[in-house]
Amino acid sequence: MPISTELPTSFRMNTGAHIPAVGLGTWQAKPGEVKDAVKHALSVGYRHIDGALIYQNEEEVGQGVKESGIPREELFLTSKVWNTYHDRVAESLDKTLKSLGTDYLDLYLVHWPVRLVANETSPLFPTNPDGSRAVDRSWNQQETWRQMEALLETGKVKQIGVSNWSIPYLDHLSETWKVVPAVNQVELHVYNPQHDLVNYCREKGILLEAYCPLGSTDSPLMKDPELLRIAKKNGVSPAAILISYQVNRGVVVLPKSVTASRITDNLKTIKLDEEDMKTLNEMAANGKQQRVNTPLFGWDLGFHDWYDVGNKDAPSPDAVTVKA
Ligand SMILES: NC(=O)c1ccc[n+]([C@@H]2O[C@H](COP(=O)([O-])OP(=O)(O)OC[C@H]3O[C@@H](n4cnc5c(N)ncnc54)[C@H](OP(=O)(O)O)[C@@H]3O)[C@@H](O)[C@H]2O)c1
Repeated sequence: MPISTELPTSFRMNTGAHIPAVGLGTWQAKPGEVKDAVKHALSVGYRHIDGALIYQNEEEVGQGVKESGIPREELFLTSKVWNTYHDRVAESLDKTLKSLGTDYLDLYLVHWPVRLVANETSPLFPTNPDGSRAVDRSWNQQETWRQMEALLETGKVKQIGVSNWSIPYLDHLSETWKVVPAVNQVELHVYNPQHDLVNYCREKGILLEAYCPLGSTDSPLMKDPELLRIAKKNGVSPAAILISYQVNRGVVVLPKSVTASRITDNLKTIKLDEEDMKTLNEMAANGKQQRVNTPLFGWDLGFHDWYDVGNKDAPSPDAVTVKA
């Protein structure tokens, strides 16, 4: 049988519905930038936008969607319930729907398996008197998921999934889930490929989504000599290799950009040969393992590399730059 050189443009989820393989990330896309980024993306062929309540830009994302003129049913919109809403998931969803100006989401995720308790310090990033995050350590994530499952019956969400869920956390959730998460959105790039998690999710029928695929802001990846060599060999940019890598391994990828030319380029994925995939797959194991997004929740999220690589006290862009 001839080997296909075509890459998929969408993946099938365990619900039977399809999700576009490349989606536009919107975290840190600032007010005044994100509407145009969304509009441009939709004008050049994107149909998938990844957002979240905590990005605090959903209203502008919604404006971009509206001004694009693309019919709602052609779009795939994702958002995420924020940590301070684990006891009020439906309320978090309604806020997002209102901001986006739509009456349903294609995919709704639990952003983190961590409940924060809103208090007078902040409704979104509450802290304790000692400055640590106000985490509710007694909260059972199975309860958050039960509320997510209930949302399916309202028609306001087509698919539900999780984000930042490690294998032990998924095992715990699987004890009571009635609906298997459609996706797990986690940090995935060549310095953090998480092959064990990818294999585990594949076995359970959970599709992976790669966040920070380019290594996020001030990426440590882009100057990697092996990556530059593979980019040169294929006649494309390093970013194109990093994005294509995920699609080649069957993972949805969510590059963020507010730069029109990059948004256009980031949709162009290429088929990588076995040798390049092997090099990219093995980079982390060959001494380059590194996370770029490590929020200071003061909470073990069950990722075995998390505390092993000296990131324990690293500031998180997610936690530091998003102001409550
Ligand atoms: N679930 C979660 O907890 C979670 C956490 C983090 C991220 N996410 C999602 O994943 C998305 C992607 O992650 P991310 O935003 O952290 O990082 P990313 O997509 O890995 O990297 C974004 C950075 O790369 C730059 N860039 C984009 N395209 C480029 C290109 N072709 N060449 C060179 N540089 C390029 C962007 O700059 P410009 O914008 O200036 O062009 C920006 O500085 C987020 O936006 C969000 O939707 C989810």
